[in-house]
Amino acid sequence: ACLYGLLMLVLYADAYSDCFCKDPNMCKPVTKKYEKELVVFSSAKDNTWTQYNWTQITNVILTGTHELYKELYCYAHSKGVRVTILVGLSVNDFPKLQQPLFRKQVLTGWINKMQSLKLDGLNIDIEGAAYTTDIVDGISALTNETNIALKSLNPSYLLTWDVPYSPILVGCFSGYCFDYVAISKSTDYMIVMDYDATIDILFASANSPLWLLKESYNLYLHNFSINPNQLVMAVPWYGYDYTCSKFFNHTDHNLCLIAGAPNSQRAFADINQKFIQNQGGLKWDTRSSTPFFTTLTDGVYHQFWYDNVQSLKIKYELAFALNLRGIGMWTADELNYTSTDATVMKQTKDMWDTLSEYLEKM
Ligand SMILES: *[C@@H]1O[C@H](CO)[C@@H](O)[C@H](O)[C@H]1NC(C)=O
Ligand SMILES: *[C@@H]1O[C@H](CO)[C@@H](O)[C@H](O)[C@H]1NC(C)=O
Ligand SMILES: *[C@@H]1O[C@H](CO)[C@@H](O)[C@H](O)[C@H]1NC(C)=O
Ligand SMILES: *[C@@H]1O[C@H](CO)[C@@H](O)[C@H](O)[C@H]1NC(C)=O
Ligand SMILES: *[C@@H]1O[C@H](CO)[C@@H](O)[C@H](O)[C@H]1NC(C)=O
Repeated sequence: ACLYGLLMLVLYADAYSDCFCKDPNMCKPVTKKYEKELVVFSSAKDNTWTQYNWTQITNVILTGTHELYKELYCYAHSKGVRVTILVGLSVNDFPKLQQPLFRKQVLTGWINKMQSLKLDGLNIDIEGAAYTTDIVDGISALTNETNIALKSLNPSYLLTWDVPYSPILVGCFSGYCFDYVAISKSTDYMIVMDYDATIDILFASANSPLWLLKESYNLYLHNFSINPNQLVMAVPWYGYDYTCSKFFNHTDHNLCLIAGAPNSQRAFADINQKFIQNQGGLKWDTRSSTPFFTTLTDGVYHQFWYDNVQSLKIKYELAFALNLRGIGMWTADELNYTSTDATVMKQTKDMWDTLSEYLEKM
């Protein structure tokens, strides 16, 4: 206990000394309050963050190993933007969540990590099957206890939570229906992961279908009575590359059969690059409000489904109409920030401009 106390003292001292920013005040937690949020998931793996449009950003959530986060951090803090970190928990540890001591150990680990990096809060991303109510309640308790511990250290620290695109579809059919109402009460806001909703197992389909988003927000807001101010819509800045095993209708290459064929996630930048090889142009799926196109490479047909400015505008419009807390993207890394090609540069700028357009209205 004594050693632990000493460790806490060292970490505490560390959080306020040896600031790595030019101005040592830049290492203090951000206290600015925002009515609406622009949440940016970023790996901080290179210096492309300098190309983000920072005007409206309120919270940068670090993902991955974030080796190069310090410059981003000092810049963000100079603008009053919080930098928080994504943390999680292995499914294997779910059964231990009933133990208060285990929860304390988990949340202390998260907070120590956050403070040693001098960050402004935590973003909890726990995904996996919670088959028993003990686990569901353990996750709610862990969230509440983390929130209490965090706010007692500094009321300006932020706690956010990544929730699935639907509280029911993903939530229960695949086994992990957490108690989103309880979680919403112990967080500053929840970030709805409006992606990986490719529920069609036969045909290539949208990553983030509009009809499903509409249905799911209706569930969060009306069936679960969660305040829209507790929800931020995170859209994908990536899409899916499906291998078509055959076409249902070979004439127009629309219905790409994917049963048993591989698919992978691709960055917006990569998909735009692939578009050059398209056969038949860019198509629009009216049901999901999503663009897609087909390519033929080495005798293999691929179909790409993704989100572009057109489909994203419709989603941001929905967030605006529902009066949500804000918008964000997974992730800011998916654009091409280094190209000198005018077309590519415009694609990158348009993605940020579209965000700004809606945030100014919100
Ligand atoms: C969080 O825990 C505290 C202390 O046990 C309790 O008073 C409070 O009602 C809990 N909040 C929620 C939202 O469960
Ligand atoms: C959501 O609420 C509506 C209206 O009360 C109800 O008809 C519907 O069955 C509910 N859906 C679910 C999945 O609970
Ligand atoms: C197949 O595609 C062609 C060209 O778009 C279209 O005219 C035809 O109606 C389609 N057939 C079916 C069965 O969908
Ligand atoms: C960016 O685009 C250029 C072509 O303009 C390409 O050579 C480069 O590989 C792309 N980089 C990324 C990270 O997508
Ligand atoms: C950044 O966004 C703001 C609006 O939020 C806009 O006025 C400004 O022109 C944008 N900056 C760039 C470099 O695109």
